[in-house]
Amino acid sequence: MDYEAFFGSAIAGLHREGRYRVFTDLERQAGRFPYATHHSPGGEREVTVWCSNDYLGMGQHPEVLRAMHEAIERCGAGAGGTRNISGTNHYHVLLERELADLHGKEAALIFSSGYVSNWAALGTLASKLPGCVVFSDEGNHASMIEGIRSSRAERQIFRHNDPEDLNRKLGLIEPGRAKLVAFESVYSMDGDIAPIDEICDVAEAHGALTYLDEVHAVGLYGARGGGISERMGLAHRLDVIEGTLGKAFAVHGGYITGSDQLCDFVRSFASGFIFTTSLPPAVAAGAAASIRHLKESSLERARHQERVARVRQALDAAGIPTLANQSHIVPVMVCDPVLCKAISDTLLDEFGIYVQPINYPTVPRGTERLRITPSPLHSNADIDHLVEALSTIWRRIGLRRAAAE
Ligand SMILES: Cc1ncc(COP(=O)(O)O)c(C=O)c1O
Repeated sequence: MDYEAFFGSAIAGLHREGRYRVFTDLERQAGRFPYATHHSPGGEREVTVWCSNDYLGMGQHPEVLRAMHEAIERCGAGAGGTRNISGTNHYHVLLERELADLHGKEAALIFSSGYVSNWAALGTLASKLPGCVVFSDEGNHASMIEGIRSSRAERQIFRHNDPEDLNRKLGLIEPGRAKLVAFESVYSMDGDIAPIDEICDVAEAHGALTYLDEVHAVGLYGARGGGISERMGLAHRLDVIEGTLGKAFAVHGGYITGSDQLCDFVRSFASGFIFTTSLPPAVAAGAAASIRHLKESSLERARHQERVARVRQALDAAGIPTLANQSHIVPVMVCDPVLCKAISDTLLDEFGIYVQPINYPTVPRGTERLRITPSPLHSNADIDHLVEALSTIWRRIGLRRAAAE
């Protein structure tokens, strides 16, 4: 087989569809978020980042940086092993306590990333619970889908955020069988929020375990940053709350929280937890500092919500089409992959604004978008500049379309 020709033709297909991914070479600047240096063949230039998942700018918070520096000074660079063989550092133990407390659970378990936590925890629970049937929201993230798929358990997809459909599907399964309902609180691309209480009602009625991904909510919602489940007073109704340390907490890693027994079970049977080097101690120390800060301080959350509202109002006033939702994610709908990439390029090249185009398979074909994530650190001037740039581009598109008709 001509392997190189195969790779080349697959890539050419992505180019033809307008969804070939081009990475933007950025150098973040501590103390200057949301600004970063963009490295390109044309040289270096400062840009404003409008699509970061460092939602609150905690990636440069002095307490987080201090904790990471201190841990490096004390422990050095890496963890030195898997959790079982010399790699459980005291910073991991402290972080797991911090996380269990965040969600009001007995225990927590940290993983290499949020992706790995979903893949390993769902894969382990679904494959080891005898005869388990997994009920997965159709909007679930790739990491959940992969975990469920790799478990080889029977799988039922329920309609997005639809407790009635879930109820119907659960009702078709024998009452005595193990069941697991997996869903998210804030869906990352549309920014819509799950009816957690109704899903818990349905799961409870059918004796199913509940598994909630709060990756896009932890740190951002709830009085202590425990996510939507905390804000709604529902954390106790979820058997597993999963999250990331890489988005609002702005460091790296993922985790699950739950009962002592459940976490001990995953700790003891999940290949993706057992057979890998644990997180560097400094990463665990930085994440714990970030969580501790956001448990105490709501300033960042309040300012974040205010900035999001301001961006939305300004875009609405300028007639830029956005998808309505109740979260901090502002999807500007373009609905064409080639145009979406072209708008993103123009924003970067002409206006010094960086927003990555989001294309299939991250979102369904025909719903391509610019996913804008305002942060507490975007100024009024940044917002005005973004909206003016988008207005200029939208005017040009309108003129071009009118000329073509
Ligand atoms: C819903 C959801 N879950 C899990 C993950 C994975 O988290 P991490 O980036 O920490 O691997 C993501 C990542 O973007 C996500 O959107």
